[in-house]
Amino acid sequence: MTDKDFIPSTYTTDKTEGKVTYKSPSNIALVKYWGKKEHQIPANPSISFTLDICATTTTVSYKKLKNKASDFSFELLFEGKPKEDFKPKISTFLKRTEPYLPFLKAYHFTIETSNSFPHSSGIASSASGMSALALCLMELERELNPNMDSDFFKRKASFLARLGSGSACRSIKGDLMQWGAHKDTLNSSDLFAIKYPYKVHPVFKNYQDTILLVDKGSKQVSSSLGHNLMHDHPFAEQRFDQAHKNLTKLKRIFEEGNLLEFIKIVESEALTLHAMMMTSMPYFILIKPNTLEIINKIWDFRASSNTHVSFTLDAGANVHVLYPENEKEKVYQFISNELVAYCENGQYICDQIGKGAKKL
Ligand code: PMV
Repeated sequence: MTDKDFIPSTYTTDKTEGKVTYKSPSNIALVKYWGKKEHQIPANPSISFTLDICATTTTVSYKKLKNKASDFSFELLFEGKPKEDFKPKISTFLKRTEPYLPFLKAYHFTIETSNSFPHSSGIASSASGMSALALCLMELERELNPNMDSDFFKRKASFLARLGSGSACRSIKGDLMQWGAHKDTLNSSDLFAIKYPYKVHPVFKNYQDTILLVDKGSKQVSSSLGHNLMHDHPFAEQRFDQAHKNLTKLKRIFEEGNLLEFIKIVESEALTLHAMMMTSMPYFILIKPNTLEIINKIWDFRASSNTHVSFTLDAGANVHVLYPENEKEKVYQFISNELVAYCENGQYICDQIGKGAKKL
């Protein structure tokens, strides 16, 4: 497939006004996407668990204009209030997606959005937010082309979400999503994410993710800046190659349910992501002292408890504590007794693997 396959030739129906709502989850990468080419093409493939609780709910109301406008016409409400500082990101998204959604300037949109997680929790809302918006716009496109097939609908929603925020393309479906061309993964693509197509052991089907909010402040360095620093990065090629190899290794691990090997890859990926940040020019550090305290506690507890608790990190200081569902009780005790003390205001979110976005 190429991006041209997402340009509609004609619309068969007309729609003057309507309203649609989607709830779309966040996701947590196991093999990380870090570094991109032009048009949001990833420098390496990635794979993520779709989350369940951390989600954005977006309602798009649309009304056809008398004449097609020269610019995008929309207003944005975040948690019920106008939010001017989100508008540039939405404008960029609309600009990037217009070639594939030629109706965008023919409507006025009211976009109302809210997150299930606290605002400024340090949790990036771009994956859930961009995927929810992409799905709402696809729903309008489906009104204009009612024969659209549901696989195409989801694939194009992922393709559009990617143009808003790379990792957002992995939030459309669940439970394990892969994005980026990879020689050992059938039908994998740089253009959109696919549901992981191979056998997955039941232990991974209900994995838990407790997100420890170590630092709720906004990031000093945005991910787009971070991605760009992978150009001319001294370790870029080795890193991209490592991601491909890790995905290949994961195939057997997922099939067999080999938790020890799973942990090695996932923790190494998290630390490599941050190692890339520390070795770029300019260099930067997003983890905090408490991030390291938590990691060390997890390693000690894992060694002494015979559990399979592990961690991963996003582009920030928060820690995602990962563990299988059958160890929930033991690990949860450990989290409350030993880790919550390192969270800002004791805040954390108990999440788990989810099934993807839902139309409400
Ligand atoms: O989607 P972006 O551009 O915000 O990049 C996200 C990158 C990481 O969260 C660090 C890793 C990933 O694969 O999600």
